[in-house]
Amino acid sequence: MLKQHAGDAARRRAVRSFVVRAGRMTAAQRRALAELGERYLLDFSGGPPNLDRVFGRRASRTMEVGFGTGDALIALAGSEPARDFLGIEVYPPGVGRLLAGCHEAGLENVRVAMNDALDVLEHWLAPSSVEEVLVWFPDPWPKKRHHKRRLVRPWFAALVHRVLQPGGSLHLATDWEPYAEHMLEVIESHPGFSNCAAPDRFMPRSERRRETRFESRGRDRGHRVFDLAWRAVKSDVAG
Ligand SMILES: C[S@@+](CC[C@H](N)C(=O)[O-])C[C@H]1O[C@@H](n2cnc3c(N)ncnc32)[C@H](O)[C@@H]1O
Repeated sequence: MLKQHAGDAARRRAVRSFVVRAGRMTAAQRRALAELGERYLLDFSGGPPNLDRVFGRRASRTMEVGFGTGDALIALAGSEPARDFLGIEVYPPGVGRLLAGCHEAGLENVRVAMNDALDVLEHWLAPSSVEEVLVWFPDPWPKKRHHKRRLVRPWFAALVHRVLQPGGSLHLATDWEPYAEHMLEVIESHPGFSNCAAPDRFMPRSERRRETRFESRGRDRGHRVFDLAWRAVKSDVAG
């Protein structure tokens, strides 16, 4: 299985789940990246960081993949100060906005990786180092020819399982019904996850999530929002 994933690695590098957007960066976002990067951005140049040292304590850790503008992450980190938060996002204006927001709110419990989440999960996080993974409104890539770009795929499930502590959880949300069905199919097929609702069932909306930008966009379009959650259980599948 490990070998198979190693073989998959090259293929998934070629098909990213995101498009690198030039994106307009405001002066405040650019300043935040320049002035606050050292404080909040994780540096992987020396290999996987010791997260207890990075956060200066040992606490339960939540990772949010693809936080976008980061408003939900800032709200969550502010309301759960006993927990540490690791945000992953490749979109520089979003990261700049998050850093500015963290600074403004005086948050000490957030760090950010401005990297492809697949790299972070595969190479830069130790096994069982995270208690919770959140992926809220990942790009649905609705066209069939783009399905291969979806973040939630079997190898993603395997990589998330590797970094989750036993008993930890994976939470997903989407406003695109076919992607919700796809998520169910993919995660349920991994033997290391047990659906927190019931097999093949969705969850009620998570109260912990402040409505995200893409969530409100979906609602404005009349889309139903689907929440999904699994607990990590022991599995023989290497990952
Ligand atoms: C549709 S947006 C959703 C943003 C936010 N969660 C929300 O609900 O408003 C998806 C985000 O995931 C980010 N993303 C996609 N693939 C990623 C990856 N492999 N690693 C890190 N970020 C990724 C994109 O840059 C984008 O900002």
